[in-house]
Amino acid sequence: MEKAKPIGVFDSGIGGLTVVRQIASTLPNESIVYFGDTARVPYGSKSNDTVIEYALQDAHFLIEKNVKAIVVACNTVSAIALNVLKEKFTVPIIGMITPGSQLALKHSRTKRIGVIGTRATISNHAYLNELKKNNSEVEVFEKACPLFVPLAEEGWIDHEATKLIAEEYLKELRDLNIDTLVLGCTHYPILAKIIQEVIGSEVKLIDSGVASAEVVRQEINRIGLETNSHALGYQDFYVSDIPTTFKKVAELFLGQSILNVKKIDLEELQKKQ
Ligand code: DGL
Repeated sequence: MEKAKPIGVFDSGIGGLTVVRQIASTLPNESIVYFGDTARVPYGSKSNDTVIEYALQDAHFLIEKNVKAIVVACNTVSAIALNVLKEKFTVPIIGMITPGSQLALKHSRTKRIGVIGTRATISNHAYLNELKKNNSEVEVFEKACPLFVPLAEEGWIDHEATKLIAEEYLKELRDLNIDTLVLGCTHYPILAKIIQEVIGSEVKLIDSGVASAEVVRQEINRIGLETNSHALGYQDFYVSDIPTTFKKVAELFLGQSILNVKKIDLEELQKKQ
């Protein structure tokens, strides 16, 4: 019975669907329950205390859905609240920062690594600390790119405005001779084409979602909870608000049409501690 339980995944909004896409491709037989806090996105501009409060409520919601592990598909929450979540809940909790950092170190030959993310992720130096913890020689260059989140949500993946903003954000990093760039926000893989064009084809982009999907596989094997099913897993999606463009944008992030979206009551969520 335990093995048949779903994997819980949450994000501040729809960015985490890029992580669901990777988990579903790595572990197609596992079921997934996703929660996107679309009523309170973005988290990346909020204080650490608020992010921790929201993260506890989001994880609590998934625990009540009887999940066997929780994937924090939000770099902002992973940067700020991962340890609090690990102390509070007994299921394995997998964040984005450690898997993303390890993949970046694996790919980087020059050990000059750029990191882009929300203001909160960058100002907490989550990737910088994790990268340096694993390799003290590494040089890390960080840049907050807050406007990438609304641009991704608008679906402006090939838009001239996105290119201009990317050029402005990435111009310093372009001159720093990095060989690897961590996309430290789950929204950014949607903009990977433009980011790659602007930063240069010689720079390897790291999608933390790809890295974390492999860690999820290892973690559920380690605890002996991999599903026995050979059928495709089910996917249930919960959100705290359904904006008018939700379906279109969510499908862009997930890479397929989205079924089973249910809106939950924000007031009920706020009561969870
Ligand atoms: N998806 C979030 C992250 O990975 C960014 C969006 C937000 O600011 O809430 O950090």
